[in-house]
Amino acid sequence: MHEHRKGGATPDDPARAGAKQPGRFDPSRADRLDDTSRFEYLPPERVLALLDPAPSALMVDFGAGTGTYAIWLARARPDLAVIALDEQPEMLDRLRAKPETQSLANLRPIFPAEIPGFRGRADRVLALNVLHELGDEALSEVRALLAPHGFALFVDWNAEVDRPHGPPREHVYSPREAAKRLAGFGFEVEMLEGFPYHYVLRARRANSS
Ligand SMILES: C[S@@+](CC[C@H](N)C(=O)[O-])C[C@H]1O[C@@H](n2cnc3c(N)ncnc32)[C@H](O)[C@@H]1O
Repeated sequence: MHEHRKGGATPDDPARAGAKQPGRFDPSRADRLDDTSRFEYLPPERVLALLDPAPSALMVDFGAGTGTYAIWLARARPDLAVIALDEQPEMLDRLRAKPETQSLANLRPIFPAEIPGFRGRADRVLALNVLHELGDEALSEVRALLAPHGFALFVDWNAEVDRPHGPPREHVYSPREAAKRLAGFGFEVEMLEGFPYHYVLRARRANSS
């Protein structure tokens, strides 16, 4: 599902330091993200149930890509404010161009420059298929976005299972490796039941009261 730009996590790209995958997601592969056959092994209903947001919650989809899940969530729960965050203009352009996006008043695409306005406010952060791409700085931002009682749900490709889809094993984490990385960033982590190809980690700020 992924291909990588040349260069990857080089000194020219310090923002990606710490990411397991060496390169950014290649926007020319974006069609794959719009392929809803993914819902068979990663059902959005189940993702929503795991997120379990309270009425009117603020949810940030961190690394929303083309918005396949952000749009589904915003449609399923019109009471939520869904922030679709991505660093790549090509991805947010695709998201904005979708007719569904125009009709969803509760879906807002943003770039990372707008993160400061949401720090400490997110009841939920969804990080779907993205932990292996997140550099250390971005991971700190996930934590900083969370409201004191909020949590982040990390759902990502499992390095320990044989998969017909997704990035190569060496570019993704085992559930334990992922949990260890998150713990190192001040998260209290619970491992939840995963999907056929994905692990699921629920992570709260370690010092939440
Ligand atoms: C593999 S795609 C997954 C997209 C979406 N979550 C899905 O499953 O359909 C990962 C996305 O995360 C974005 N991304 C990676 N690192 C990011 C960062 N630090 N800040 C914002 N977006 C990021 C990439 O641009 C890409 O669009």
